[in-house]
Amino acid sequence: MTILAPSMLSADFKELGNEIRAIEEHGAKYLHFDVMDGIFVPSISFGMPVLKSIRSGTNLVCDVHLMITEPIRYVEDFAKAGADLITIHLEACEDVDATIDKIRECGCKVGISIKPKTPVSAMEPYLEKVDMILIMSVEPGFGGQKFIPESLEKIAQTKRMLDEKGLAVDIQVDGGIYTHNVEEVLKAGANIIVAGSAIFNGDTKQNTIEMMDILKKYE
Ligand code: DX5
Ligand code: ZN
Repeated sequence: MTILAPSMLSADFKELGNEIRAIEEHGAKYLHFDVMDGIFVPSISFGMPVLKSIRSGTNLVCDVHLMITEPIRYVEDFAKAGADLITIHLEACEDVDATIDKIRECGCKVGISIKPKTPVSAMEPYLEKVDMILIMSVEPGFGGQKFIPESLEKIAQTKRMLDEKGLAVDIQVDGGIYTHNVEEVLKAGANIIVAGSAIFNGDTKQNTIEMMDILKKYE
């Protein structure tokens, strides 16, 4: 099943309720929630209070992407604020296994993510313990960046690795994805597409419909 996960980072925050309604009504299943601490990535976004207020107004899967150092410190807070799925960066964790276990303990699904320069092999030890893998196709920290073409080989490598192990783990790709390049990301093996600018810059409803029309061809 292919899933659209609009990244809220690019939403119009003075119209956030309407923005979320628009993506929900036109086929998105996830809301991608980019948490940034200004240390692991050179930017600061939003945190638990924003997630808590959004949670009460949507049935979308709250897909929380923690771009923060030592995420184990905040797993419980984000779970309590309404996260359904929490993704952590291997590069940000002292103890990846302990962090994965903490997410499970809090009742959330588990995602692990690698930055563009981190090899796919770094995820190998954790594949049996996670629900989703997030391949970053831009350097984390900002929306509106250009898709890094080498990401396609990383996605294909990840898909091969999971297929060889017979693991049904979702592959999410995040950064620089638009209607003009999403098909190559899907063909490489991704099934969850994060898109911020492509969805929220301009007409959210129309952008969502156009992106969903493409994703539906790869169900
Ligand atoms: C970047 C975030 C991405 C970003 C995607 O650090 O993880 O989710 O918001 O935005 P676009 O789709 O505009 O590249
Ligand atoms: Zn993200």
